[in-house]
Amino acid sequence: MRKIALVGALAIAFASRAAAQAADGKALYDELCKKCHGALGTPPKTMQAKFEKIKKFDAEYMAKRTDDSVVKVLTKGKNEDMKSFKEKMKPDEMAAVAKYVHELAAKAKP
Ligand code: HEC
Repeated sequence: MRKIALVGALAIAFASRAAAQAADGKALYDELCKKCHGALGTPPKTMQAKFEKIKKFDAEYMAKRTDDSVVKVLTKGKNEDMKSFKEKMKPDEMAAVAKYVHELAAKAKP
């Protein structure tokens, strides 16, 4: 009886770990990107004033960028403003965020 309970507990532990490992692009974006890029990919006015080059993630802007190129920016950083996130995110998390940014762009109104 105890053995069965233990196997059950282990199964639950593994299942919840697997769920936690599937990177959640939205959650990561909201945590790490939203403050500059805005909840829906349009930077708040304060950030537009602070960063001249920050752009809205709309379809046109993101059409020029692939998931891979976004992951590259997140890995290497682009400049002083858009820094590398390699200390904060794992590669699969970067890929999930890149996908999410493209989803935002697809939904953005022109
Ligand atoms: C401190 C503010 C700040 C944060 C936080 C931030 N960014 Fe940026 N990001 C910028 C600025 C500023 C630019 C424009 C850089 C430029 O073109 O000079 C930029 C540019 C970008 C670009 C376009 C790069 C290109 O291909 O030219 C992408 C994609 C991007 N950010 C994604 C993200 C993601 C995803 C996150 C969260 C993991 C994030 N950013 C967090 C400020 C920020």
